[in-house]
This record gives sequence, C-alpha cells and structure tokens, in this order.
Amino acid sequence: MKLLIDDANIAKIKEISEFFPVDGVTTNPSILAKSGRPPFEVLSEIREFLGDKELHVQVISADAEGIMKEAAKITEVLGKETFIKIPVTREGLKAMKALSADGYKITATAIYTPMQAYLAARAGADYAAPYVNRIDNLGANGVESAMTMHDIFVNGGYKTEILAASFKNSQQVQALAAYGCGCATCAPDIIEGLIANPTVTYAVEAFKKDFEGLVGEGKTMLDC
Ligand code: E4P
Repeated sequence: MKLLIDDANIAKIKEISEFFPVDGVTTNPSILAKSGRPPFEVLSEIREFLGDKELHVQVISADAEGIMKEAAKITEVLGKETFIKIPVTREGLKAMKALSADGYKITATAIYTPMQAYLAARAGADYAAPYVNRIDNLGANGVESAMTMHDIFVNGGYKTEILAASFKNSQQVQALAAYGCGCATCAPDIIEGLIANPTVTYAVEAFKKDFEGLVGEGKTMLDC
C-alpha cells in the first residue's frame, strides 16, 4: 500500500518526507484554505519538491464543463501527471468519463458508499478515495466500506485502486494495508502515530545502555 501525505504545509511535507517512506501528497480545498496562501503558489512549491512523486489536486466546480476546464488548468500548471480529484457526483461522473478518455489521471473523491466507488471505476478513475473516518462518524464502518470497494475493483477486474482517506487512527490504516488496498493518504500526525510507541523507545534505549555498559558511554559500532 502506497502512503501519501494529506497536507499542503510544505515544511511539514518536507519533514515527513525526510523520515517516512512516502509516495506523494494529496490536497483538498479545505487543506489549501488552511495555508492561507494562493493555491497555485502552494501547489507549485509542493510539485517542485515532490518531483515525479504523486500530487493530487481537487477541482472546485460542480458542473462537468467547469471540472474539465479546471483539470486542464491544473495539469497545465502542475504537470500532466497530476491526479485530478473529482467528487463522485452526477456531474463529476460525466467529467470523469470525458477526462479519463482524454488520458487525465483521476482520483474520484468524496466517496462514502461502495456504489460511488463502483461508478467511479466504471467512469475510468485511477483511484477512488473513501473517507474512512467520516464514514465511521455516520454510524457505518469506514474500514469495511473501503474493503468492499476494494473487492468490487478486484472482483470486477477494474484498474481502479483504493486511495483511502480521512483517517483517525493507526488501526484503520493497518486494516486497509493488511487487506491489500492500493494507497492511503494520512495527515502528518496520523503518519507519526504509525510508529508512536513508548515500548519501542524503551527497547532502543535499553540496547544503547547495555552497549555503553560494555564499551563506554557515547560509544557506537564506529568507535568500539
Ligand atoms: C482526502 O482525499 C480527503 O479530502 C481528506 O482525507 C478528508 O479528510 P478529513 O475527513 O480528515 O477532512
């Protein structure tokens, strides 16, 4: 399962990328709003930093014509490899059909039900983004919904992969990784949380202490 950063803060993106094995960045209009900066200024910075890693950018228009025009501008400014995030609505599906036929890369988003994911796959989306925690908050089961969507793609022979989004905890991420989902996008704090474990810290400190007891304080394999 690929791992993406769900954020537009370039400092955070750089920090997470330095330590974690990540494959790119996803953004949405609310995430861009948090930056308080012109959207294409922020996105161009992110694109430059990412190189050929994945960048996913969401359209704002509600109508198919507007969505297609935005897709053209996004790829013109940020490169044709940029994934266009399109909400799975009636108009969104119309735009997806046309854009996928034109070779655009598409991430179907705002997915709350397996039927949205199924239709996105039929419309040619590369990724479908179920909102795991938001589905949980509706009283349904986000992880199980994402698994059902994954089954629809695999059993139906669709190229579409799950790009699970909206995570609240490591357990949700782990369940979908174990299930073989294609991708997860997580906020920086969720990525940090994947290895936040005091027991690990304790074990590493104990190893160091034992070794220093043998060869002297501050010594490593370099100078013993
Ligand atoms: C990503 O595609 C989604 O826009 C995002 O993960 C939603 O996350 P949230 O539910 O934490 O806002």
